Amino acid sequence: MSFSNSDTTSLDAENLDSIYGKGAYKYKSLNDKNTFVFSQSKPFDLIELEQLLQSVGWSRRPIRRVKKALDNSLLKVGVWRHDPKFPRLVGFARCTGDGFLEVTIWDVAIHPVYQGFGLGKQLMTYVLSQLKKMKISKATLFADAGVLEFYKSQGWVLEPKGKKCAFWYAN
Ligand SMILES: CC(C)(COP(=O)(O)OP(=O)(O)OC[C@H]1O[C@@H](n2cnc3c(N)ncnc32)[C@H](O)[C@@H]1OP(=O)(O)O)[C@@H](O)C(=O)NCCC(=O)NCCS
Repeated sequence: MSFSNSDTTSLDAENLDSIYGKGAYKYKSLNDKNTFVFSQSKPFDLIELEQLLQSVGWSRRPIRRVKKALDNSLLKVGVWRHDPKFPRLVGFARCTGDGFLEVTIWDVAIHPVYQGFGLGKQLMTYVLSQLKKMKISKATLFADAGVLEFYKSQGWVLEPKGKKCAFWYAN
């Protein structure tokens, strides 16, 4: 697996920034022929975003409230399957919080078609790298029971009773 701006696909650094915004990273999983891009500055089509979240089984949400929630989020990260004309949103995560001490991570999802290629893990790595840049000292998330292992294997610590919460500490 790679996580860089320097591999040999046609998506060079200039194109990467112009299509996906500043700070975007491209990622090519060994198991999939597509190139994926992680970005926190490319704007979202809210209908596409909600379709993605529904594809993993989550309930429909009012678009106007979603827009406000995103406006009030500290960090919104999209994962796009690269296409120079029609990039497709295949993953998402966002964080809310005070911006200095604590954040909570929400809406972590990878489209079912693209699950199992390492994108979810890479998405969390990208999110945490951005939180580190913001000098956030603690992140929290509320995991569904079926994905606790996904977080545990990445170093997240389960809350003492081991039921639903997990905590991540920068140090
Ligand atoms: C959870 C989710 C984001 C994982 O994304 P993904 O791209 O399929 O995960 P990856 O391919 O990066 O998997 C990374 C590792 O976690 C493991 N893993 C993935 N999903 C897992 C799960 N549900 N339970 C246990 N382990 C899991 C993989 O086997 C892989 O292990 P490896 O590093 O030893 O090979 C994705 O399955 C998803 O969107 N699920 C539905 C929405 C959801 O439940 N989100 C979490 C809300 S709390």
